[in-house]
Amino acid sequence: MSKETKTKTVAVALGVCLVCSVLVSSAAVSLKDKQEQNKQLDRLKNILVVGGLYSPKTDIGKVFQENIRPFIVDLEKGAVLPRERFDAVLNTDDFDIKKIASSPRYGMKIPADEDIAGIKRRPRYMIVYQVIQNGAVEKIILPVYGKGVWSTMYGFIALNNDLTTVEGFSFYDHGETPGLGGEVDNPRWKRSWVGKKVFDKGGNVVIEVLKGTVDPGSPKAAHQIDGLSGASLTTRGVDKLVRYWLGDDGYGPYLAKLRQEGKG
Ligand SMILES: Cc1cc2nc3c(=O)[nH]c(=O)nc-3n(C[C@H](O)[C@H](O)[C@H](O)COP(=O)(O)O)c2cc1C
Repeated sequence: MSKETKTKTVAVALGVCLVCSVLVSSAAVSLKDKQEQNKQLDRLKNILVVGGLYSPKTDIGKVFQENIRPFIVDLEKGAVLPRERFDAVLNTDDFDIKKIASSPRYGMKIPADEDIAGIKRRPRYMIVYQVIQNGAVEKIILPVYGKGVWSTMYGFIALNNDLTTVEGFSFYDHGETPGLGGEVDNPRWKRSWVGKKVFDKGGNVVIEVLKGTVDPGSPKAAHQIDGLSGASLTTRGVDKLVRYWLGDDGYGPYLAKLRQEGKG
């Protein structure tokens, strides 16, 4: 092969690489919006799923509009934030947990000894959703998140309007191993949360995800969940994140306030 032919070969190869990389990057850029839209739709769908409002025929946007009422809660005060305080970052239309947690103004660092969910930072304000049926608040949906083995797991827990009984539990974003930690998506496991009690009569967090299985005869069975087999690290992560978010550093003050107001 002559020197000139080698140069040509390299030039053609580089040209092909260039064309391909331009094609791939333009596809990635042009699909980004669509991916974001799909992610948002999936999040809304998950809210309806945990709220018990989803079936495959559901018009997600319509049902969300009609049956879900979002609020922003100041976690430390346990108070609902008035709409006048909404701005481009803090609002119910595009509340972005990751963005708000990392914001110097709206997020905060969690002291290491309090960070049982392993999330380092959290929003000072969280979005919560009321499920409205026949004009009444039937359930409340609370976003939760925390560290698994390979990922931060983002999900929702729905409580009955007694503010204690679980109505639904689901993650919408995680990177745990399919078949192991990924079993957090197992519908049977998710259903096992329904009916469990997260608080005792004194308002203390009592829900527990066990390493192992629940003894149905135990007096604690009403607030215990089976662990995922072969995935005790993810299981421990779920246990901790739920306990963190329902506790004093999470929705505790808000739920206590609702109880005081006789809404639980
Ligand atoms: C490739 C690979 C992926 C794993 N993924 C997970 C996972 O997603 N969640 C988890 O808890 N453990 C995962 N493990 C297993 C943990 O290392 C550990 O063995 C397991 O959590 C112990 O659970 P067990 O006590 O129920 O057996 C994975 C292990 C390997 C080798």
